[in-house]
Amino acid sequence: MTSPPRRYLDNAATGWPKPPEVVAAVVRAMTEVGATAGRGAYRSALEATALRDRARRAVAGLLGADPARVVLSTGATVALNVAFHGLLQPGDHVVATAADHNATLRPLEWLRARGIIDLSIVPCDGSGRVDPRAVRLAWRPATRLLSSSLVSNVTGVRQDLAALSRVVREHDGLLVVDAAQGAGLVPVDEIAAVADVVAAAGHKWLQGPGGTGWLWVREGLEPEALVQGGTGTASTCLDMPGALVERLEAGSPDVPALAGLAAGIEWLARHGTAAVAGHVRALAAAAAERLAALPGVRVVAVPDGAPIVSFTVADYHPADVAALLEQIAGVEARAGFHCAALVHRHLGTADGGTVRVSFGPFNGPADVAAVVGAVAAVVGAAGDGHDDGISLTRPAWQT
Ligand SMILES: Cc1ncc(COP(=O)(O)O)c(C=O)c1O
Repeated sequence: MTSPPRRYLDNAATGWPKPPEVVAAVVRAMTEVGATAGRGAYRSALEATALRDRARRAVAGLLGADPARVVLSTGATVALNVAFHGLLQPGDHVVATAADHNATLRPLEWLRARGIIDLSIVPCDGSGRVDPRAVRLAWRPATRLLSSSLVSNVTGVRQDLAALSRVVREHDGLLVVDAAQGAGLVPVDEIAAVADVVAAAGHKWLQGPGGTGWLWVREGLEPEALVQGGTGTASTCLDMPGALVERLEAGSPDVPALAGLAAGIEWLARHGTAAVAGHVRALAAAAAERLAALPGVRVVAVPDGAPIVSFTVADYHPADVAALLEQIAGVEARAGFHCAALVHRHLGTADGGTVRVSFGPFNGPADVAAVVGAVAAVVGAAGDGHDDGISLTRPAWQT
């Protein structure tokens, strides 16, 4: 028996396929530029520096921010670690949310377990949304910051960060936002307007290569460096340089990856973030509706931030469902807890987690039909593997 063709539906983990312009930018940086950034005045070193700075400017453009406040990193996890370890002081109290990813919860728990900070984790509702009143109740005189994700990576549901930020402002605290699942789908300039720090991945909805991410820190806030080392500047001085970007970017950057990140953000701008987000959200909405109509299938929440559909199938372990989806329809989906330690207690999925499908710009109605048809086959329902009724015009970037 031949295997069905591959259908990648794990874009919340990392986007794939990447736009051809991104691949071309990576290849060009590797094959034609080669040198590293910020480390020389010869022609290709200057070009590598320009590629790195183009990525920084592209991120700053998304945020409506000064590029000098944008630190490039290897992912959202590293960016969040830089923020927490660099900003928190012994004795600080932090409020985090049960909807958060381990990229925030684990560094905060690490600091708590070593007696450096106190940590309160506020609950979320059955879709992963946090009530700002819970944050207000958890706030203490020693609370330094609220850490919240922009969009849950398990349910695709968006937090009301404007409301959360009002609570933070009432107390003169800081708001650190993990925008890994929102940047590229949600206007992050609106988030930067209410936050003090925003971290994100570049390899998910921003269409960049793996190993890319960034941290934006508002003017006036100066995290300590998590990593010390060479910056290509002030080399005779043993102290880290004072400027934010130099201080927080020690070591040689991954220039090909950053060239790809710039190309990804430029690709999004060319096609329009709203158009791309509209396309992927329409696919997720269709999948959520059709899956929920199948017997024994529970769609955990209706996504309103990222095109993520998390579901369970009665009497099946999520890992078995994911394996069957691949066997039946070639669907590559993730099963389990999705690196989110606590949210499943609130979603009613603590026993095994969920199956998660997430749609990218290069998916289409046939992918929705494939996943719905495969789940229908698993539950023994009459097949719903057709893609009519999902009235989407083929987006320009797919032609
Ligand atoms: C909400 C959220 N935060 C943080 C991360 C970590 O991102 P990265 O893999 O770029 O470190 C992820 C990745 O899955 C995520 O979904």
